[in-house]
Amino acid sequence: TQNAVGNSFAVVRQYAPYVQANWGYANHWYPALFSEELAEDGVKGVTIGGHDLALRRSQGKTYAVSDRCVHRGVKLSGKPMCLADGTITCWYHGFTYDLSDGNLTTIVGNPDDALIGNVRIRTYPVQERNGMIYVFVGDEDFSPVPDLSTDLPMKVTDDANPVAHLLGEHTVVKGIHRRLVGNWRLAAENGLDPGHLLVHWDNQLVVALDRALPLGLQALSEDATEMIDIPDGPKGVMNRYDKPELYRPVLENPKVNMTARGTVPHYFRVSLWVPGVLMVEHWPISNFVQYEFYVPIDDHHHEYWEVIAYRAETEEERKEFEFKFDNFLLPLGLLDFNNRDVFAREATEEHYTRFDGWTNEVLCDMDFSVVSWRKQASRHLRGYFSSPYHDED
Ligand code: FES
Ligand code: FE2
Repeated sequence: TQNAVGNSFAVVRQYAPYVQANWGYANHWYPALFSEELAEDGVKGVTIGGHDLALRRSQGKTYAVSDRCVHRGVKLSGKPMCLADGTITCWYHGFTYDLSDGNLTTIVGNPDDALIGNVRIRTYPVQERNGMIYVFVGDEDFSPVPDLSTDLPMKVTDDANPVAHLLGEHTVVKGIHRRLVGNWRLAAENGLDPGHLLVHWDNQLVVALDRALPLGLQALSEDATEMIDIPDGPKGVMNRYDKPELYRPVLENPKVNMTARGTVPHYFRVSLWVPGVLMVEHWPISNFVQYEFYVPIDDHHHEYWEVIAYRAETEEERKEFEFKFDNFLLPLGLLDFNNRDVFAREATEEHYTRFDGWTNEVLCDMDFSVVSWRKQASRHLRGYFSSPYHDED
């Protein structure tokens, strides 16, 4: 029951639902845009799990509708046209839709057409919180729509100094997102993976702060990765790097003449949550938290979101955070540091695409947390996105 060098089928079977999720997990909230990316009267197109969405802000309210005109199927966002409040008009032949229910309300050049009132485009639930716009994407009849908080990392209660929650009262966020090659799962797993620290060993941020970043982190017990299953709340796994009895940092390997640099120890902790959201607490420095979303676009691309959140109670604190973001967190953290992760994921994609990496990978002890994540994600599947191409299965 085992191929030449890869995982036994019995192992893969433990997380089979996850292995099938090439297009991603349907019926979840995903970030679509930062608030500042959608101006009043603006229209932007995004693709999530094969769903093309047009986001539009009208009279301060945010809407998401299908980005396909019913008439000839062009993207509404291709050439935004908004002639009246609360509507979006297709730039091609003037089909005009109500943003709140998607109904065709008129056709610019043919206001008596029989189609009016009888066809519609799909609308999607939207929520805008603390500078981010989230959309619930999946099956049209999925009901009830779960609370946004069920799809975002939870504040961990046993931390004396908890970091800012994405929905927190004084939370400010800044970040970037970019479209990358690579399946969303390879991106998510890289974020959690304690063995991948090697790609960061000479990063500018690590050297500049004289961080004692280990070469790797070895799990010492089954509890090293905690399964988190909060009733009516988010589901995820957490690597308890904060507990020395659970993780041993590997600081040198004489066989390859490698020693971890730096003398300043730094506490951080990593967790990964369904449907693919990473939380790195106290990263890159204490009291900041980095959230990452790996939003599936299609089976070979994902939108990589890097978000730093901070609790700022005054305008001064907010300004200081923005200054630090522009001059430290963005260039050294989100770009220089995380570009190593981007390189790693894009390099992994080929094996999983061409050579069935899910059964032809050879996992080691360091992959314990990744396997825990796969099992946890399999348990909490609400549905799959599927290919929208009609010539494919
Ligand atoms: Fe949109 Fe014709 S394609 S109105
Ligand atoms: Fe990384």
